Amino acid sequence: MHRSTDLPYADPDADWSLPGWLYTDAEYFELECARVIRPSWQIVCHESDLAEPGAWRTLSYLGEQLVAVRGGDGVIRGFHNVCRHRAMRLVEGASGCARKLVCPYHAWVYELDGRLTGVPMKRDYPALRLEENGLAAVEVETWRGFVFVRLEDDGGPSVAAMMAPYDEEVAPYRFEEMRRLSDVRERERRVNWKNVGDNYSDNLHIPVAHDGLTRLFGKSYAIEAAGWVDRMSGELVDRPSSDWWERFYQTHLPRVDHLPEANQRRWLYYKLWPNMAFDLYADQIDFMQWLPLTPTTSLLREMSFALPDERREMRLVRYANWRINRTVNAEDTWLIERVQEGMASSSYTAGPIGASEVCLRSFAAKIRERIPEARQHRAPPPGWSRRVRGV
Ligand code: FES
Ligand SMILES: [Fe+2]
Repeated sequence: MHRSTDLPYADPDADWSLPGWLYTDAEYFELECARVIRPSWQIVCHESDLAEPGAWRTLSYLGEQLVAVRGGDGVIRGFHNVCRHRAMRLVEGASGCARKLVCPYHAWVYELDGRLTGVPMKRDYPALRLEENGLAAVEVETWRGFVFVRLEDDGGPSVAAMMAPYDEEVAPYRFEEMRRLSDVRERERRVNWKNVGDNYSDNLHIPVAHDGLTRLFGKSYAIEAAGWVDRMSGELVDRPSSDWWERFYQTHLPRVDHLPEANQRRWLYYKLWPNMAFDLYADQIDFMQWLPLTPTTSLLREMSFALPDERREMRLVRYANWRINRTVNAEDTWLIERVQEGMASSSYTAGPIGASEVCLRSFAAKIRERIPEARQHRAPPPGWSRRVRGV
Protein backbone atom coordinates (compact mmCIF):
# COMPACT_ATOMS: atom_id res chain seq x y z
CA MET A 1 0.00 0.00 0.00
CA HIS A 2 1.44 3.34 -0.95
CA ARG A 3 0.54 6.03 1.49
CA SER A 4 -0.16 9.45 0.15
CA THR A 5 0.72 12.51 2.16
CA ASP A 6 -2.12 14.50 0.68
CA LEU A 7 -5.03 13.24 2.68
CA PRO A 8 -8.24 12.70 0.72
CA TYR A 9 -10.18 14.32 3.56
CA ALA A 10 -9.85 17.46 5.65
CA ASP A 11 -7.96 16.51 8.80
CA PRO A 12 -10.14 17.65 11.73
CA ASP A 13 -7.01 17.83 13.90
CA ALA A 14 -4.87 19.74 11.43
CA ASP A 15 -4.69 22.85 13.62
CA TRP A 16 -3.47 20.88 16.67
CA SER A 17 -0.02 19.59 17.48
CA LEU A 18 0.53 15.97 18.44
CA PRO A 19 -0.60 15.58 22.07
CA GLY A 20 1.87 15.27 24.93
CA TRP A 21 1.09 11.65 25.84
CA LEU A 22 2.60 10.50 22.52
CA TYR A 23 5.96 11.63 23.89
CA THR A 24 5.88 9.51 27.05
CA ASP A 25 3.43 6.60 26.70
CA ALA A 26 5.02 3.13 26.61
CA GLU A 27 2.20 1.44 24.70
CA TYR A 28 2.11 4.17 22.11
CA PHE A 29 5.89 3.93 21.79
CA GLU A 30 5.73 0.24 20.87
CA LEU A 31 3.05 0.84 18.26
CA GLU A 32 4.91 3.81 16.80
CA CYS A 33 8.18 1.89 16.52
CA ALA A 34 6.32 -0.85 14.64
CA ARG A 35 4.35 1.41 12.30
CA VAL A 36 6.73 4.32 11.79
CA ILE A 37 10.36 3.38 12.49
CA ARG A 38 10.55 -0.26 11.37
CA PRO A 39 9.24 0.54 7.86
CA SER A 40 11.42 3.66 7.39
CA TRP A 41 14.88 4.04 5.89
CA GLN A 42 17.83 4.54 8.22
CA ILE A 43 21.25 5.75 7.14
CA VAL A 44 24.19 3.46 7.81
CA CYS A 45 27.15 5.18 6.14
CA HIS A 46 28.59 6.40 2.84
CA GLU A 47 29.54 4.00 0.06
CA SER A 48 33.17 5.11 0.44
CA ASP A 49 33.07 3.74 4.01
CA LEU A 50 32.65 0.34 2.35
CA ALA A 51 35.30 0.83 -0.29
CA GLU A 52 36.76 -2.70 -0.37
CA PRO A 53 35.04 -6.08 -0.73
CA GLY A 54 34.43 -7.31 2.81
CA ALA A 55 34.23 -3.83 4.36
CA TRP A 56 31.32 -3.62 6.77
CA ARG A 57 29.51 -1.10 9.00
CA THR A 58 26.94 -1.80 11.68
CA LEU A 59 23.80 -0.04 12.82
CA SER A 60 21.64 -0.98 15.82
CA TYR A 61 18.15 0.28 16.60
CA LEU A 62 14.88 -1.02 18.02
CA GLY A 63 16.80 -3.96 19.47
CA GLU A 64 17.87 -5.07 15.98
CA GLN A 65 21.49 -5.32 14.96
CA LEU A 66 22.26 -4.82 11.29
CA VAL A 67 25.38 -4.94 9.18
CA ALA A 68 25.98 -3.53 5.70
CA VAL A 69 28.77 -5.28 3.84
CA ARG A 70 30.28 -4.99 0.37
CA GLY A 71 30.47 -8.30 -1.46
CA GLY A 72 33.20 -9.64 -3.71
CA ASP A 73 30.93 -8.60 -6.61
CA GLY A 74 30.96 -4.98 -5.39
CA VAL A 75 27.32 -5.04 -4.28
CA ILE A 76 26.46 -3.61 -0.85
CA ARG A 77 24.05 -5.87 1.05
CA GLY A 78 22.35 -5.60 4.42
CA PHE A 79 21.91 -8.41 6.94
CA HIS A 80 20.87 -9.01 10.51
CA ASN A 81 24.15 -9.26 12.40
CA VAL A 82 22.95 -12.49 13.99
CA CYS A 83 24.25 -16.03 13.48
CA ARG A 84 21.63 -18.57 12.38
CA HIS A 85 23.01 -21.16 14.81
CA ARG A 86 22.71 -19.82 18.37
CA ALA A 87 22.04 -16.16 17.54
CA MET A 88 25.53 -14.93 18.36
CA ARG A 89 26.46 -11.45 17.13
CA LEU A 90 28.63 -12.01 14.07
CA VAL A 91 30.71 -8.86 13.78
CA GLU A 92 31.57 -6.64 16.71
CA GLY A 93 31.99 -2.87 16.73
CA ALA A 94 31.15 -0.10 14.30
CA SER A 95 33.21 -1.09 11.27
CA GLY A 96 35.73 -3.54 9.91
CA CYS A 97 36.76 -5.63 6.95
CA ALA A 98 36.60 -9.42 6.56
CA ARG A 99 37.09 -12.01 3.81
CA LYS A 100 34.22 -14.04 5.25
CA LEU A 101 31.97 -13.50 8.24
CA VAL A 102 33.01 -16.14 10.77
CA CYS A 103 30.92 -16.50 13.89
CA PRO A 104 33.03 -16.16 17.05
CA TYR A 105 30.92 -18.75 18.93
CA HIS A 106 31.16 -22.01 16.92
CA ALA A 107 32.88 -20.80 13.75
CA TRP A 108 30.06 -21.05 11.24
CA VAL A 109 31.22 -19.33 8.05
CA TYR A 110 29.12 -16.93 5.96
CA GLU A 111 30.16 -15.50 2.61
CA LEU A 112 29.99 -11.75 2.03
CA ASP A 113 26.71 -12.29 0.14
CA GLY A 114 25.21 -13.95 3.21
CA ARG A 115 25.40 -17.61 2.14
CA LEU A 116 26.27 -20.11 4.85
CA THR A 117 29.15 -22.18 3.48
CA GLY A 118 31.00 -23.61 6.46
CA VAL A 119 29.75 -25.51 9.52
CA PRO A 120 32.16 -27.46 11.72
CA MET A 121 30.80 -30.98 12.39
CA LYS A 122 28.10 -30.39 9.84
CA ARG A 123 26.77 -33.97 9.99
CA ASP A 124 26.00 -33.44 13.68
CA TYR A 125 22.94 -31.30 12.82
CA PRO A 126 20.11 -33.46 11.43
CA ALA A 127 17.91 -30.44 10.66
CA LEU A 128 20.52 -28.22 9.02
CA ARG A 129 20.36 -27.28 5.35
CA LEU A 130 23.08 -24.80 4.43
CA GLU A 131 21.06 -23.19 1.65
CA GLU A 132 18.23 -22.34 4.07
CA ASN A 133 20.45 -20.81 6.72
CA GLY A 134 22.11 -17.86 5.07
CA LEU A 135 22.08 -14.58 6.94
CA ALA A 136 18.68 -12.90 7.17
CA ALA A 137 18.72 -10.04 4.66
CA VAL A 138 17.35 -6.51 5.01
CA GLU A 139 16.61 -4.10 2.20
CA VAL A 140 19.34 -1.68 1.15
CA GLU A 141 19.02 1.52 -0.80
CA THR A 142 21.92 3.64 -1.98
CA TRP A 143 21.05 7.21 -2.77
CA ARG A 144 23.66 9.63 -4.04
CA GLY A 145 26.46 7.68 -2.39
CA PHE A 146 24.74 7.07 0.95
CA VAL A 147 23.69 3.64 2.20
CA PHE A 148 20.32 3.12 3.89
CA VAL A 149 18.56 0.06 5.31
CA ARG A 150 15.02 -0.68 6.38
CA LEU A 151 13.60 -3.48 8.47
CA GLU A 152 10.20 -3.72 6.76
CA ASP A 153 8.57 -2.62 3.55
CA ASP A 154 5.12 -1.09 4.06
CA GLY A 155 5.03 0.42 0.58
CA GLY A 156 6.52 3.71 1.74
CA PRO A 157 8.75 5.78 -0.53
CA SER A 158 12.44 5.26 -1.20
CA VAL A 159 14.93 7.90 -0.09
CA ALA A 160 15.28 8.91 -3.74
CA ALA A 161 11.51 9.34 -4.06
CA MET A 162 11.36 11.40 -0.86
CA MET A 163 14.14 13.66 -2.11
CA ALA A 164 12.83 13.91 -5.68
CA PRO A 165 11.37 17.42 -5.23
CA TYR A 166 14.87 18.72 -4.45
CA ASP A 167 17.02 16.44 -6.55
CA GLU A 168 18.23 19.24 -8.81
CA GLU A 169 19.14 21.40 -5.86
CA VAL A 170 21.15 18.64 -4.22
CA ALA A 171 22.92 17.31 -7.34
CA PRO A 172 25.69 19.97 -7.57
CA TYR A 173 26.91 19.08 -4.06
CA ARG A 174 28.23 15.79 -5.50
CA PHE A 175 27.49 13.65 -2.45
CA GLU A 176 28.72 10.58 -4.33
CA GLU A 177 32.28 11.91 -4.33
CA MET A 178 32.29 12.98 -0.71
CA ARG A 179 34.41 11.41 2.00
CA ARG A 180 33.94 11.16 5.74
CA LEU A 181 35.36 14.07 7.75
CA SER A 182 35.03 12.43 11.14
CA ASP A 183 33.77 9.26 12.72
CA VAL A 184 30.13 8.69 13.65
CA ARG A 185 29.19 10.60 16.80
CA GLU A 186 26.52 9.07 19.01
CA ARG A 187 24.92 10.94 21.87
CA GLU A 188 22.00 10.00 24.05
CA ARG A 189 19.29 12.56 24.70
CA ARG A 190 16.62 12.42 27.41
CA VAL A 191 13.79 13.13 25.00
CA ASN A 192 11.32 11.21 22.89
CA TRP A 193 12.63 10.87 19.33
CA LYS A 194 9.84 13.04 17.90
CA ASN A 195 10.99 15.92 20.05
CA VAL A 196 14.28 16.06 18.14
CA GLY A 197 12.55 16.14 14.77
CA ASP A 198 9.89 18.63 15.84
CA ASN A 199 12.64 20.97 16.94
CA TYR A 200 14.71 20.44 13.80
CA SER A 201 12.00 21.83 11.54
CA ASP A 202 10.46 24.31 13.98
CA ASN A 203 10.77 27.67 12.25
CA LEU A 204 9.38 29.98 14.91
CA HIS A 205 12.09 29.34 17.50
CA ILE A 206 15.04 30.52 15.39
CA PRO A 207 14.79 34.26 16.17
CA VAL A 208 13.83 33.54 19.79
CA ALA A 209 16.33 30.88 20.79
CA HIS A 210 19.26 31.02 18.35
CA ASP A 211 21.04 34.37 18.54
CA GLY A 212 23.90 33.07 16.42
CA LEU A 213 21.72 31.85 13.56
CA THR A 214 19.77 35.09 13.70
CA ARG A 215 23.01 37.08 13.40
CA LEU A 216 24.09 34.89 10.48
CA PHE A 217 20.81 34.68 8.57
CA GLY A 218 19.08 37.97 9.37
CA LYS A 219 15.47 37.51 8.33
CA SER A 220 16.23 35.06 5.52
CA TYR A 221 15.37 31.82 7.36
CA ALA A 222 12.63 30.01 5.42
CA ILE A 223 10.86 26.64 5.58
CA GLU A 224 8.67 24.53 3.35
CA ALA A 225 7.22 21.02 3.45
CA ALA A 226 7.09 18.96 0.26
CA GLY A 227 5.50 15.55 0.85
CA TRP A 228 8.06 13.44 2.66
CA VAL A 229 10.73 16.10 3.04
CA ASP A 230 10.99 19.43 4.83
CA ARG A 231 13.35 22.06 3.54
CA MET A 232 14.80 24.87 5.66
CA SER A 233 17.27 27.47 4.45
CA GLY A 234 19.13 30.57 5.50
CA GLU A 235 21.35 32.96 3.55
CA LEU A 236 24.50 34.24 5.25
CA VAL A 237 24.28 38.00 5.61
CA ASP A 238 27.30 40.19 4.82
CA ARG A 239 27.04 42.37 7.91
CA PRO A 240 29.81 41.09 10.20
CA SER A 241 28.54 39.22 13.24
CA SER A 242 29.55 40.39 16.71
CA ASP A 243 30.66 36.82 17.49
CA TRP A 244 34.27 35.97 16.65
CA TRP A 245 33.71 32.49 15.08
CA GLU A 246 30.65 33.59 13.19
CA ARG A 247 32.58 36.54 11.79
CA PHE A 248 35.47 34.27 10.90
CA TYR A 249 33.09 31.97 9.01
CA GLN A 250 31.41 34.88 7.22
CA THR A 251 34.65 36.44 6.07
CA HIS A 252 36.76 33.33 5.33
CA LEU A 253 34.31 30.92 3.72
CA PRO A 254 36.11 30.21 0.45
CA ARG A 255 34.38 29.82 -2.90
CA VAL A 256 33.77 26.25 -3.99
CA ASP A 257 33.74 25.72 -7.73
CA HIS A 258 31.18 22.93 -7.78
CA LEU A 259 28.29 25.01 -6.38
CA PRO A 260 26.17 27.60 -8.18
CA GLU A 261 26.44 31.20 -7.02
CA ALA A 262 23.19 31.04 -5.03
CA ASN A 263 24.49 28.15 -2.91
CA GLN A 264 27.89 29.59 -2.01
CA ARG A 265 26.59 31.27 1.14
CA ARG A 266 23.41 29.29 1.76
CA TRP A 267 22.80 26.94 4.67
CA LEU A 268 20.31 24.29 3.61
CA TYR A 269 18.58 21.77 5.81
CA TYR A 270 16.47 18.79 4.77
CA LYS A 271 14.46 16.60 7.07
CA LEU A 272 13.30 13.26 5.72
CA TRP A 273 10.41 11.21 7.06
CA PRO A 274 10.50 10.25 9.83
CA ASN A 275 13.77 10.70 11.78
CA MET A 276 16.65 11.74 9.56
CA ALA A 277 18.09 15.04 8.37
CA PHE A 278 21.04 16.51 6.61
CA ASP A 279 22.57 19.94 6.65
CA LEU A 280 24.25 21.29 3.54
CA TYR A 281 26.94 23.94 3.72
CA ALA A 282 29.31 25.01 0.99
CA ASP A 283 32.12 23.66 3.19
CA GLN A 284 30.64 20.29 4.23
CA ILE A 285 27.47 18.33 4.88
CA ASP A 286 26.26 16.75 8.11
CA PHE A 287 23.94 13.76 8.30
CA MET A 288 21.99 12.99 11.41
CA GLN A 289 19.30 10.61 12.63
CA TRP A 290 17.50 10.34 15.94
CA LEU A 291 16.76 6.76 16.91
CA PRO A 292 14.21 5.89 19.59
CA LEU A 293 15.62 4.07 22.64
CA THR A 294 12.72 4.29 25.09
CA PRO A 295 9.60 6.50 25.17
CA THR A 296 11.68 9.24 26.79
CA THR A 297 15.21 8.69 25.44
CA SER A 298 16.79 8.73 21.99
CA LEU A 299 20.15 8.29 20.35
CA LEU A 300 21.47 11.05 18.10
CA ARG A 301 23.76 9.66 15.43
CA GLU A 302 25.71 12.19 13.38
CA MET A 303 28.38 12.14 10.69
CA SER A 304 30.09 14.72 8.50
CA PHE A 305 31.21 14.47 4.89
CA ALA A 306 32.86 16.76 2.37
CA LEU A 307 34.52 16.84 -1.00
CA PRO A 308 38.28 16.60 -0.60
CA ASP A 309 39.62 20.15 -0.15
CA GLU A 310 42.98 20.63 1.50
CA ARG A 311 42.95 24.42 1.57
CA ARG A 312 43.97 25.68 5.00
CA GLU A 313 41.16 28.22 4.90
CA MET A 314 38.65 25.43 4.29
CA ARG A 315 39.89 23.46 7.29
CA LEU A 316 39.55 26.51 9.53
CA VAL A 317 36.12 27.35 8.17
CA ARG A 318 34.95 23.80 8.85
CA TYR A 319 36.16 24.21 12.41
CA ALA A 320 34.29 27.52 12.69
CA ASN A 321 31.17 25.82 11.36
CA TRP A 322 31.52 23.15 14.04
CA ARG A 323 31.92 25.82 16.76
CA ILE A 324 28.86 27.71 15.59
CA ASN A 325 26.69 24.62 15.37
CA ARG A 326 27.90 23.25 18.68
CA THR A 327 26.30 26.29 20.28
CA VAL A 328 23.12 25.86 18.23
CA ASN A 329 22.92 22.20 19.31
CA ALA A 330 23.38 23.12 22.96
CA GLU A 331 20.57 25.66 22.67
CA ASP A 332 18.28 23.06 21.09
CA THR A 333 19.16 20.42 23.67
CA TRP A 334 18.26 22.86 26.43
CA LEU A 335 14.91 23.49 24.76
CA ILE A 336 13.87 19.94 23.95
CA GLU A 337 14.76 18.53 27.36
CA ARG A 338 12.42 21.06 28.90
CA VAL A 339 9.72 20.41 26.33
CA GLN A 340 10.04 16.69 27.11
CA GLU A 341 9.36 17.35 30.79
CA GLY A 342 6.42 19.57 29.85
CA MET A 343 4.95 16.84 27.66
CA ALA A 344 4.69 14.69 30.79
CA SER A 345 2.81 17.37 32.71
CA SER A 346 -0.78 16.54 33.68
CA SER A 347 -1.68 20.06 32.54
CA TYR A 348 -0.65 19.57 28.91
CA THR A 349 -2.71 17.92 26.19
CA ALA A 350 -2.21 19.27 22.66
CA GLY A 351 -1.20 22.76 21.61
CA PRO A 352 -2.45 24.87 18.72
CA ILE A 353 -0.28 24.84 15.63
CA GLY A 354 0.32 27.89 13.48
CA ALA A 355 -0.53 28.15 9.78
CA SER A 356 3.14 28.89 9.08
CA GLU A 357 4.30 25.76 10.91
CA VAL A 358 4.04 23.69 7.77
CA CYS A 359 6.68 21.10 8.74
CA LEU A 360 5.09 20.31 12.11
CA ARG A 361 1.74 20.02 10.33
CA SER A 362 3.13 17.66 7.73
CA PHE A 363 4.74 15.39 10.33
CA ALA A 364 1.70 15.30 12.62
CA ALA A 365 -0.60 14.46 9.68
CA LYS A 366 1.53 11.45 8.74
CA ILE A 367 1.60 10.19 12.32
CA ARG A 368 -2.20 10.50 12.63
CA GLU A 369 -2.64 8.67 9.35
CA ARG A 370 -0.63 5.69 10.63
CA ILE A 371 -1.88 5.74 14.22
CA PRO A 372 -5.41 7.18 14.46
CA GLU A 373 -5.28 7.05 18.30
CA ALA A 374 -2.73 9.87 18.04
CA ARG A 375 -5.74 12.16 17.55
CA GLN A 376 -6.84 11.69 21.15
CA HIS A 377 -5.65 14.46 23.43
CA ARG A 378 -5.36 12.09 26.42
CA ALA A 379 -3.98 8.56 26.58
CA PRO A 380 -6.67 5.87 26.29
CA PRO A 381 -7.00 3.46 29.26
CA PRO A 382 -4.12 0.96 29.63
CA GLY A 383 -4.29 -1.99 27.25
CA TRP A 384 -5.57 0.16 24.36
CA SER A 385 -2.77 -0.79 22.01
CA ARG A 386 -3.47 -4.52 22.40
CA ARG A 387 -7.04 -3.87 21.33
CA VAL A 388 -5.83 -1.79 18.37
CA ARG A 389 -3.46 -4.54 17.29
CA GLY A 390 -6.09 -7.21 17.82
CA VAL A 391 -3.99 -9.27 20.24
S1 FES B 1 26.17 -19.18 17.33
FE1 FES B 1 27.26 -18.80 15.54
S2 FES B 1 28.28 -20.62 15.15
FE2 FES B 1 27.14 -21.07 16.90
FE1 LIG C 1 16.95 24.96 16.90
